[in-house]
Amino acid sequence: MQSRIIQYTSEINEFKPASAAELEEFRIKFLGTKGIIKDLFEEFKSVSAEEKRVLGKVLNEFKKLAEEKHALLKAEFEENSEEDTDYEDLSLPGSGFEVGGRHPLSLVRKEVVEIFKKLGFIVAEGPEIEDDWHNFTALNFAKEHPARDMQDTFFIKKDAENGDIALRTHTSSVQVRMMENGQPPFRAIMPGRVYRNEAISARAHCFFHQVEGLYVDENVSFADLKQTLFYFVQELFGEGTKVRFRPSYFPFTEPSAEMDISCSLCGGSGCTMCKGSGWVEILGCGMVDPNVLENCGIDSNKYSGFAFGMGIERMANLKYEIKDLRLFSENDIRFLKQFQSELV
Ligand code: PHE
Repeated sequence: MQSRIIQYTSEINEFKPASAAELEEFRIKFLGTKGIIKDLFEEFKSVSAEEKRVLGKVLNEFKKLAEEKHALLKAEFEENSEEDTDYEDLSLPGSGFEVGGRHPLSLVRKEVVEIFKKLGFIVAEGPEIEDDWHNFTALNFAKEHPARDMQDTFFIKKDAENGDIALRTHTSSVQVRMMENGQPPFRAIMPGRVYRNEAISARAHCFFHQVEGLYVDENVSFADLKQTLFYFVQELFGEGTKVRFRPSYFPFTEPSAEMDISCSLCGGSGCTMCKGSGWVEILGCGMVDPNVLENCGIDSNKYSGFAFGMGIERMANLKYEIKDLRLFSENDIRFLKQFQSELV
């Protein structure tokens, strides 16, 4: 009898019903009125008093095991069958749909493009993987010129003979492509992504966005450059925004300048954004160096031009006070949602 109980015990332990019907069969087999346990208790009556002492305990434990197993499986089936019903809990909150918003960088780029469109500028684009000629050499960066180090380049292929292949470090490469493929007048802006090998932090990133501008025609002067950028700033940051130019250096422009605007946050009285100076730098610019025009097959005695380049992140930083550059590429819905009201 004891060996049978051991056998039944392992049968019960291993029992895994696939359906409620199978579980019911189990119940009838072991716990039913004509079931195994009932029989065992019948049999128990006729064993010797000595055996009874041991067997009684074993038998009771076995009964308990069968009952508990049955109760557990029954509860499991009931729980699952509840899920299977078509019942819908109308008090549950809905899952909802998030409304998408335009990325702040797209918003700013659109605004910049619209302003220049009013001045007759068209939009031009170029590849993000560039060769040495378009990113550097045609733009008057001499072979070993330290200015190449100004922009930490991500090289894709180093090739001393045919020129390196790299991710463009600025959108000025599009200037070259445009001038190579036509004759003046040119009046275009070139928005796009650029790459620099910098450690990612709140203030620097390995990629960002620029808008480059190019205007080449007969008799274009620095006065045209100033007036164009002055108009742009009034449109983007509001009338009354002051500008100032500081001499600077770029290999592809001569003379070169950096342009500051009166701080858009404090209006010029001094705050943390402008570090107390009242001015914030927003772009680089200058008259296209005659060498660049010649490199692109344009007669520098007949034509002159100006170019400028700005970072879109920088504009967004000033417009929306977004101080951490990393936010732009994290795709955090809580950040992006804040610009939804600006849907255009
Ligand atoms: N290409 C320059 C930069 O990335 C910006 C610039 C463009 C300066 C055009 C002058 C003229 O820093």
